[in-house]
Amino acid sequence: MTRPTFAVLNGPNLNLLGTREPDLYGAERLSDIQQRCETVAAELDVAVEFFQSNHEGALVDEIQRRRADSGIVLNAGAYTHTSIAIRDALAAVQVPFVEVHVSNVFAREDFRHRSYLSDLASGVIVGCGADGYEFALRRLVVLATA
Ligand code: DQA
Repeated sequence: MTRPTFAVLNGPNLNLLGTREPDLYGAERLSDIQQRCETVAAELDVAVEFFQSNHEGALVDEIQRRRADSGIVLNAGAYTHTSIAIRDALAAVQVPFVEVHVSNVFAREDFRHRSYLSDLASGVIVGCGADGYEFALRRLVVLATA
């Protein structure tokens, strides 16, 4: 039997994690987060695939490609607060997803309090730093095997 596959998708500027505003986003790089997710995936005997793009349409394309996956961990970055297209892609594929934000968006500017994605999400994890990705992946595996 093939192992269930989970995607970890990251939006704009998350390629700069580790150097970008470390007071807000911490010192871990996206490659460190990827490594942590791969370790969790190996422990849980699932496959995990990573993707990052600074472009809205590329994220839409990737979500569409993920329609057969068992779950998506999604940090859409600033597109969280603006993108109807990403929302529509998630609604179209009907793959369970957990929305992740490294920072506590509710302790920041008002425009970050609004998400176009949260009401479609299986769960939302904010302000847990890089740990949030690991929590989200574990949660999606639980949901997929329940
Ligand atoms: C973020 C929060 C967003 O508001 C911001 O635009 C990001 C990162 C986070 O992980 O905390 O790029 O999604």
